[in-house]
Parts: sequence; C-alpha cells; structure tokens
Amino acid sequence: MSSPLHQRHLLTLLNHSTEEIQYLLTLARDLKAAKRRHEEEKHLIGKNIALIFEKTSTRTRCAFEVAAYDQGAHVTYLDPVSSQIGHKESIADTARVLGRFYDAIEFRGSQHTIVEDLAKYSGVPVFNGLTDEFHPTQSLADVLTIQEHIDKPLSDVTIAYVGDSDNNVAISLMIIAAKLGMTIHFGAPTELLPNQKIIDECQAIAEKTGAKIKCFTDAHESVKGVDFIYTDVWLSMGEAKDKWAERIKLLFPYQVNQALIDASGNPNVKFLHCLPAFHDAKTVEGAKLMKDFPELKDGVEVTDEVFESECSIVFDQAENRLHTIKAVMVSSLS
Ligand code: CP
Ligand code: NVA
Repeated sequence: MSSPLHQRHLLTLLNHSTEEIQYLLTLARDLKAAKRRHEEEKHLIGKNIALIFEKTSTRTRCAFEVAAYDQGAHVTYLDPVSSQIGHKESIADTARVLGRFYDAIEFRGSQHTIVEDLAKYSGVPVFNGLTDEFHPTQSLADVLTIQEHIDKPLSDVTIAYVGDSDNNVAISLMIIAAKLGMTIHFGAPTELLPNQKIIDECQAIAEKTGAKIKCFTDAHESVKGVDFIYTDVWLSMGEAKDKWAERIKLLFPYQVNQALIDASGNPNVKFLHCLPAFHDAKTVEGAKLMKDFPELKDGVEVTDEVFESECSIVFDQAENRLHTIKAVMVSSLS
C-alpha cells in the first residue's frame, strides 16, 4: 500500500491538502468496514508508539491504543506525573530520546508549541491528540460521521457549531470544513466567536474550495436550515474553573435544547458533540454545575432530552475516533 502521507505528522489539518484529508477519510471508512467483516489486515506489526497525555482522556487514548493493537503495533502510555517530561527534562531532550525508541509519538496537552517541538526534535511522526488550539483527529471523526449520516456531497452539507466557538474543537471543525468545501455556521456571543486570525486563514482556504463560513450572534439564526448542530463543553480543559459563571451567562442562550433543534426547521437534523458532555447530573462536575446554576436544571451545553433523542449521533461519532485515528497511524507508518 503506498500512502501519500508516509512519515507525515498530524499537528493541525491546516498542513494537509484537501486530497490528503479525503484520503484519510476513505482509508478510515475502509478500515472500519474491514474490522466489521473481521478481515482487517495488520499494517503496523513491529511498530512502537509513545502516547503522552498531559491532559486527561477517554476516547483519544483508547482510540490510539485499540487502533495500534488492531494493527499489530505496541504502545507506551505516559501520564503527566510518572515521566520526567516537563519537570525534569525539556521537550527537546524528551523528543530526542523517544525518537530513538519509538516509530511515532502522540501528544495531548496544553501548548501547541509542544507538539511542534516534538515534531522538530524527535525525527519520527508526531500526532496531535488535542492541544489548546487544535484537535485534528476529532474533526476527522466528525466528518466521517457526517458522511455516514447524510446522502449528499460534503459541498452541500451545512453544520452549525453553537457555544464556545473559539476552542480547539470548533477551530478544527472550521479548518476541515474549509478544506472540504463545506458550509459552517458559528452561533456564539461576539467574544466567543472564532478568533479573526483563524477565520481569515480559513476564509482564504474557502475561497479555493467553495466552503462558506458564517458567524451569527443569534443561536436560532445560526441553525436555520442546517443539517447538523454541534456543540462542545463551555469551558475546556486547562481553563480556570472560576470562569464558569461568566461562561454560563454568555452561553446559556446557545444551549442545544429542543427549541434550538426545532429552530433548524429540519426534521432530519442531527446532533453532534465530541464528548464528554454535561447533559445530566450523573458526573461530579455536571451535578455541581446543575446545583450551583438552577437555569442548568435540564443540562449544561446540551439538554439530556436532546442528548438522548433520536437525532443524537454522538456515540457513532465517538466510535469513529477509533477508525480515523487508525487511518492517521496507518497512512503515516505503514
Ligand atoms: N473527544 C475527546 O477527545 O474525548 P477524550 O477527551 O475522552 O479523549
Ligand atoms: N474543548 C474540549 C474538548 C475535549 C475533548 C477541551 O479542550 O477540553
């Protein structure tokens, strides 16, 4: 199998062409189908992959691990406390050590410069498992899920992302939408719309691909006629917890509830969320938020009613993290 992405990093999809992204999505679809048929070929036998997690994870970590095992590779999981990284050894030194042991490195953490430095110094492909700025493997899973749930070309698909629209998930969705010629709406208060620098960068891409990027401050306007409504947590990992009150005040009008779903006017509209989601009081943080802020009694960024409804495809989306992350590793390392 010859891959156009051989030995390539995945730091942000800004570095990938439209054709390379399409290649990854097709490969993910094929790997998913092969696994379902119990006919998966192992392309990564003998490879060793380091998984560095400075921030917590369920989906991303498990997707990298299971994808590696399915393909015959081995992984080492490094958590933030049990290695020397950061507190006793610089990223440049760590990268040069790990590059001697491993065929690739995955990194999840705060600063995007860390994945850039790992890529610069390690000499092996580096995959971004989420930084404060980007979450590229998430957006690949998002689009694979969109393709599976709609019977029209991506150029005819419109997504509305409502809520904190300047976070890693929102920005990465805008990048992939721009690269693939999709239409993306953002619904957020002015201060939480995507930053102008990344909008300008994506608009320049959109001019070539036919993508459309539109910003709305009215949540209901932002979802009119769309095919998919997407949201994420209102406060991302690493942001100060004392910002919750301010965020809730700003974002409560953008909560994905049944009224917002109905405002799309599309009886077939689907709901997406990268997860984890605060939709009920069954988590420590969710319960605290719902107790401290009575207006959140039905859910935080999404109500339990919508999360559990027929239109919610969030678990298909979560499963696709596995198949798309597998495609990223196979395309780069096989
Ligand atoms: N969506 C996502 O990245 O989930 P985890 O934080 O569980 O990896
Ligand atoms: N924006 C969220 C995504 C979690 C998968 C965060 O960074 O915490």
